[in-house]
Amino acid sequence: INVHVLNGPNINLLGRREPQIYGSTTLADIEKLVRDKAETLGAAITFRQSNHEGQLVDWIQEAGAQGAGIVINAGAYTHTSIALRDAIAGSGAPTIEIHLSNVHAREGFRHRSFIAPVSVGVICGFGPMSYLLGLEAVHHVMVERAR
Ligand code: DQA
Repeated sequence: INVHVLNGPNINLLGRREPQIYGSTTLADIEKLVRDKAETLGAAITFRQSNHEGQLVDWIQEAGAQGAGIVINAGAYTHTSIALRDAIAGSGAPTIEIHLSNVHAREGFRHRSFIAPVSVGVICGFGPMSYLLGLEAVHHVMVERAR
């Protein structure tokens, strides 16, 4: 099982960015946690971050072409991007939307997600653990679909 973990805008600043909301864990720390978990699941991981919407579209298409699953923290593009939504829908890749923070406990503009309707499910509010729960979720979905 092949999983692409994709990160959108400003996620590269984790650890320094609004730590009262997002905590002190860096993206490099999260990548390590994800890789350790993937090893126990026997999953292959591609871990990426971009601040650019089109780059994320290209990576979603790539995951789909490889038959991979996707765990995506699309950052603010979650709330704005029809292009990411269409890319996920068109890729056929089982996708789990994740967020570090509980977006539903925050500003109203974070309550709407364009990508949730084309995702298998959404995990938010668990900090770095959201990534591990997302990985477990997509792994579970892919194992179920394969049998
Ligand atoms: C976020 C939540 C988004 O609303 C925000 O724009 C982010 C981070 C999260 O992980 O909590 O950039 O996706």
